[in-house]
Amino acid sequence: MSLMDKFTAASGMDSFVYFVLLLALPLLLLIKLKKKSNLPPGPRRWPIVGNLVQVMLSKLGFQGYIQKVQRKYGPIFTIRLGSQPMIIIASRDLAHEALVQKGSLFASRPPAKGLRKLFTSNQMNISSAPYGPLWRSLRRNLVSETLSSPALKSFQEGRDWGLQVLIQGLKTEAAQNEGVVKLVEHLRHASFCLLLYMCFGLQVEENEVREVEGVMRELLLTVASLALEDTFPILKVFYRKRRERMQGMHRRQEEKLVSLINRRREELAEGAAVNCRAYVDSLFSLTVDGGRCLTEQEMATLCSEFITGGTDTTSTTIQWVMANLVKYPDVQSKLYKEIVGVVGKEGVKLVEEEKLVSEMQYLEAVVKEALRRHPPAKFVLSHAVTEDCSLGGYDIPVGAFVNFCVSEMGNDPAEWENPADFRPERFVNGEVDLTGGKGIKMMPFGVGRRICPGLAVAMLHVELIVATLVLKFEWQTKPGETVDLAETQEFTTVMKYPLQAVIKERVATPGY
Ligand code: HEM
Repeated sequence: MSLMDKFTAASGMDSFVYFVLLLALPLLLLIKLKKKSNLPPGPRRWPIVGNLVQVMLSKLGFQGYIQKVQRKYGPIFTIRLGSQPMIIIASRDLAHEALVQKGSLFASRPPAKGLRKLFTSNQMNISSAPYGPLWRSLRRNLVSETLSSPALKSFQEGRDWGLQVLIQGLKTEAAQNEGVVKLVEHLRHASFCLLLYMCFGLQVEENEVREVEGVMRELLLTVASLALEDTFPILKVFYRKRRERMQGMHRRQEEKLVSLINRRREELAEGAAVNCRAYVDSLFSLTVDGGRCLTEQEMATLCSEFITGGTDTTSTTIQWVMANLVKYPDVQSKLYKEIVGVVGKEGVKLVEEEKLVSEMQYLEAVVKEALRRHPPAKFVLSHAVTEDCSLGGYDIPVGAFVNFCVSEMGNDPAEWENPADFRPERFVNGEVDLTGGKGIKMMPFGVGRRICPGLAVAMLHVELIVATLVLKFEWQTKPGETVDLAETQEFTTVMKYPLQAVIKERVATPGY
């Protein structure tokens, strides 16, 4: 029976109710439609493609386009990639309201589509899992089993290995190249060794490290270009060849990681003496989906997330620190004095880690200033809300991508005096909490429930490596050249002209 039939068949009270319903229904629909349109404002968009054309035609890149839109529309605005709304938040207060005060609402991730689904084992990793029990258990496992203070202490051998690889690599290149080194490649390789050790507890042969590193990096750099296909699945037809190539890369990466996973599993099964509890050890006993163990592919996905999450971000940060130390020699010599004052000049093999945290305030200030000026991630990973809600007077619907302008916050003149200057002194004696719990001043690691779980270990690695580099070598510009701090976008925001510097060994220390 249709609604109209029901209306005519009904009588008395019933017919009155149906009549009211018939009148109210269009009204309710109208109210809902009107409500839906209260998204934050944004630039006019083209049919089908949304603002994608403007983004792609912008000479200033995605970041530059966003800055332009922000100047016009203020601290919260919407752009559209195809039909997909992306709400961008550029104000520290609104970011605090969303990520801290309304933390659980803004803590989810958008659904993965296309190849991303394959690469994340259907969102079975920490960074892409929606907010919920799976995410909680994966994240808790990483934090308590691998990133806690006692666990970090057990990775000392891995840190020694990474530093050794770094210093040897620099010395070899300097010897062959009149003292000139291209730092970032050495940093990336050393960070990779370190993360590989934390992940598998193995010191892998140099050749094999290079092989795994090559495969993972190749895939990482192409994944960034998936955005277009995610937005327009129809383009799959045109990208078939490229998709097949990426699937091949992904297969090769999985094979390499699974072989390391099995090597570690055998080592443990044979009862070999091991120096640490590696990340993968915790995955062997982790259960998901109400009690099942992880498959090899899922473990490989989690290991890949661990290694890639910590390699480029760390090496990029260190490169920015060192570039500023070369550009500003007075900052470098002040830092050198602090380090030598704490650990001494002679015979120091390693900078002692406890002293990094407790006694080197200027080092911490230098690193924070580099993270403020040059955050490796200009935006966080896209967030999604768990239910329709509001922010700054606008609607934030389920299904919208939500993101935050990390670099705008760290360069906001309302908070930072002369924000373009590199001046670590602003952090000395001034408490700046990177977790942003009481208010956000900068957020290079994100803030709230999705804050980077690697914050502490990243700070430890960056400080340890910078202190060692400054203690071991004096860093200078190449004759006749200056340091150019222009940026470009890879997986992270890197130096457009990678730092090349002349190094002079200060002290010949045993061990390296
Ligand atoms: C300087 C180094 C690093 C920087 C600047 C950095 C930055 C970030 C940022 C901005 C996010 C996204 C936060 C959000 O979506 O709101 C993130 C997430 C994440 N990072 Fe890092 N990160 C660094 C190092 C590391 C390291 C060393 C690891 C692992 C050992 C790691 C593992 C992760 C993971 C697993 C997530 C996803 C968290 C989640 O979705 O719950 N990161 N990081």
